[in-house]
Amino acid sequence: MKAMTFAKDKGETKPLHLFSVEDAAEGLAGLEPMHRAWAMASGFKGKAGEVLLLPGPDGEPEAALGGLGRAKDRARGRFLVASLRAKLPGGTWRFKSVLQGRDLEEAALGWLLAGYVFDRYASKSPPKAGLVAPKGVDAERLETIAAGEALARDLINTPASDMGPDELEAAARDLADTHGATFAVTTGEDLLKANHPMVHAVGRASVRAPRLIDMSWGTTGPKLTLVGKGVCFDTGGLNLKPGASMGLMKKDMGGAANVLGLAKMIMASGMDFQLRVLIPAVENAVAGEAFRPGDILTSRKGLTVEINNTDAEGRLVLADALALADETAPDLIVSMATLTGAARVAVGPDLAPFYTDSDSDAAALAAAAEAVRDPVWRMPFWDPYESMIEPGIADLDNAPKGGFAGSVTAALFLRRFVTSTPRYMHFDIYGWTPSAAPGRPKGGVGQGIRALFDALPEMLNAG
Ligand code: BES
Ligand code: MN
Ligand code: ZN
Repeated sequence: MKAMTFAKDKGETKPLHLFSVEDAAEGLAGLEPMHRAWAMASGFKGKAGEVLLLPGPDGEPEAALGGLGRAKDRARGRFLVASLRAKLPGGTWRFKSVLQGRDLEEAALGWLLAGYVFDRYASKSPPKAGLVAPKGVDAERLETIAAGEALARDLINTPASDMGPDELEAAARDLADTHGATFAVTTGEDLLKANHPMVHAVGRASVRAPRLIDMSWGTTGPKLTLVGKGVCFDTGGLNLKPGASMGLMKKDMGGAANVLGLAKMIMASGMDFQLRVLIPAVENAVAGEAFRPGDILTSRKGLTVEINNTDAEGRLVLADALALADETAPDLIVSMATLTGAARVAVGPDLAPFYTDSDSDAAALAAAAEAVRDPVWRMPFWDPYESMIEPGIADLDNAPKGGFAGSVTAALFLRRFVTSTPRYMHFDIYGWTPSAAPGRPKGGVGQGIRALFDALPEMLNAG
């Protein structure tokens, strides 16, 4: 059981005084004499993650001090309050702090995110401490964000044996049912009839049929289409990945998990959008039926693609989904995908690189990302590199040689399939926390979706 909601404000609550290193001395001076003496004798400094329980007359903790670290710690890390939660005993706590605005929201959301545990395969207890929603935050909104984030994490963390195309479809269907969205799926050979040849080609070697998931919700407002890479396992295909590179490839549906998490936030909060979610769900497997290096595929859009590496499969399945998305020309298409190793080399696991030709969308997203502490970094759709994705005998090359700008050329490849929609934004995410940080245990993680959730109203009204 996750503990990602606020506690009800009834009965006894205990104060959790939050101090940074800079304001700890002054803060301690304001405590009642017994607590002050105990805190000074214990040497509480306000360091990040530091917790000091303050005993009452019966020896039971009746209050606590929590450290927020130095100002520079807060620039280095996020959700520092999350690291306090597990150290507190059960009971219901309330913040006592000078935090306000976005800082207070970050602290409250950090607390909720610290309640995430992936307990599908082994029981894991979430922290016992509860928190009353601090005054001044939109509690419902923060709970919605935490629930969307938890969905993305759960989907990514579930191994491919239990999260194949069928199970990913079931998860999407479940979400659609919960929010009254319409839901359609095209599976297996039907993909050829419905003209999704590249989704079929990439997924046909697996015993688990490839499919295209199509969810729609909302009847008024601007049109937003989200497209997520749903490669449930990426062996690399005939260009087989080496073991070390294949190990984490259950997370290759991280783009799909992220767009579903974002869709959950949008639907649960009742935003006035016409939302569509498209997910090509496949397994890039090895079998006699597998597509091959040198094959030339004709995409839904009619562009032909020379396969120079079967491990560059994400852009193929996304291309057909993007072409479908583009046919109705929504106001904005956003794709999210664990698309390239090159993106990781460039910015590491924390930052979500994104591409857009709209300076105003980029500015709105960057501002939101900073405010909600969901870091993103703009990358260029660099037109001069278009020639790198043009091979000899087809329109496009799925795996340019040379090893330059791998994330950029993948993004340029995708952009070729969006020609009628006024604005297109693409995220090349990692979807995984390699080592635990406050509020982010090792494992699947949302990237860019909290920033998008915050920025989308501005992006879509400005459009
Ligand atoms: N899913 C991988 C990309 C990936 C690898 C993301 C590791 C995160 C961590 C993708 O399908 C892939 O294999 N891309 C290749 C493309 C290349 C063959 C042009 C890559 O990045 O090496
Ligand atoms: Mn691959
Ligand atoms: Zn992949």
